[in-house]
Amino acid sequence: MPSKHKQKHSNNIEILSPEGKLGVLLPGMGGAVSTTFIAGVEAIKRGLGLPIGSLTQMGTIRLGKRTEKRFPRIKDFVPLAKPEDLVFGGWDIFPDNCYESALKAGVLEKTLLDNLKDVLEEKKPMPAVFNKRYVRKLNGTYLKRGKTKFELAEQLIEDIERFKKENGISRAVMIWCGSTEVYLKPSKVHSSIESFEEGLKDNHPDIAPSMIYAYAALRCGIPYANGAPNLSVDIPALVELAIEKKVPIAGKDFKTGQTLMKTIIAPGLKARMIGLKGWFSTNILGNRDGEVLDDPYSFKTKEESKLSVLEHILQPDLYPELYSDFYHKVRINYYPPRGDAKEAWDNIDIFGWLGYPMQIKINFLCRDSILAAPIVLDLVLFLDLAQRAGLYGIQEWLSFYFKSPMVREGLYPEHDLFIQLMKLKNTLRYLRGEELITHLGLDYYYDHI
Ligand SMILES: NC(=O)c1ccc[n+]([C@@H]2O[C@H](COP(=O)([O-])OP(=O)(O)OC[C@H]3O[C@@H](n4cnc5c(N)ncnc54)[C@H](O)[C@@H]3O)[C@@H](O)[C@H]2O)c1
Repeated sequence: MPSKHKQKHSNNIEILSPEGKLGVLLPGMGGAVSTTFIAGVEAIKRGLGLPIGSLTQMGTIRLGKRTEKRFPRIKDFVPLAKPEDLVFGGWDIFPDNCYESALKAGVLEKTLLDNLKDVLEEKKPMPAVFNKRYVRKLNGTYLKRGKTKFELAEQLIEDIERFKKENGISRAVMIWCGSTEVYLKPSKVHSSIESFEEGLKDNHPDIAPSMIYAYAALRCGIPYANGAPNLSVDIPALVELAIEKKVPIAGKDFKTGQTLMKTIIAPGLKARMIGLKGWFSTNILGNRDGEVLDDPYSFKTKEESKLSVLEHILQPDLYPELYSDFYHKVRINYYPPRGDAKEAWDNIDIFGWLGYPMQIKINFLCRDSILAAPIVLDLVLFLDLAQRAGLYGIQEWLSFYFKSPMVREGLYPEHDLFIQLMKLKNTLRYLRGEELITHLGLDYYYDHI
């Protein structure tokens, strides 16, 4: 239960205390990311591992001047729910419990999963809202039936209410960890909540299952984030509903392996005014996500999300001599022997002083779900914080976690990881009434500043 005790700070932001349990609802509960996240939190609770990669658990925040030496942990600075307070639920198109699906995902070792078997076996998904038309490589067997998409949304809302009641929960957050759906462009049915609800009743083909989950979450007042690149909550109708219901939303597409590297390296090249001729990125991966992305229609959704990053960071319109003509290609190939242990190669053709060419090669042997799980944890905790602090609609300060950050219409997204981090930390300072940090630094040298 959110506490009646409010904490008020100098800028008058009131944050309700995170008392009681916090529900975490995951469409795609049986997938690699969800099970790595759930098993990971259970392992951390039992002292079997550390929450590495999680800013909320491991990160610190500087407050005031450097001379003050105030660097609290983020989790001690803002009132966040604790991993022990999380209660997991969700949906999948297969009925396996979390132990079985984590074994199948093959990310975490069996010995670790066996240590957690009791808690993981208890966690079972609810039947999903799914249609093969939107994820063509999967054949779901554990599905809801309904005459219209509106009826299916109502069934999800009943699931959510039941989950909250059975677990004695008043607050919850939903994170889409389901498969990447086929590419859809925003259309008229997405333009307002009236047309969207009409579309739900008429089974409009432009309404994908992930939008039905997002709609159900918002109707229940539950914050929603989208970990995949499909539109989901990123349509005007659902942004409008989020604002009307005063619910925070965020998306899209967790920023993990190759794109994380891109948003670390590209800002560095731009900072030093190094030119770019081409960036070729290729990946092999063999998990179920790789299989889904082997379908060109789902890949197109992912490709759009991955391609937008460089254009926004490098700003070719401002630097035509350096970035107006670069070639950017992204490939993903399904290669079963690798499972979740993806391998990514980047060949980057750059040029320097007087146009002399140089190359950078990156070979990232990463583990997709190991990088994604801490993002899910942070999003759950920060979206819950946002709601308790009275923030709603698009949470741009959470861009740090996404390949295609959602922004208000008319704004361009901020992709530079370091600006995103500054934005995130300044938002936390703002919520707590602390001075924002500009990194000016002249005040250490001149008395009058
Ligand atoms: N590093 C990463 O792993 C990473 C990074 C960015 C984005 N993503 C995205 O996150 C999502 C999850 O990735 P993953 O590796 O866990 O994939 P996965 O294939 O292992 O898991 C997806 C799960 O969603 C289920 N599912 C599909 N449609 C559903 C529906 N309509 N309702 C409920 N469940 C449904 C599938 O059965 C599967 O269990 C994917 O869309 C992926 O593109 C992952």
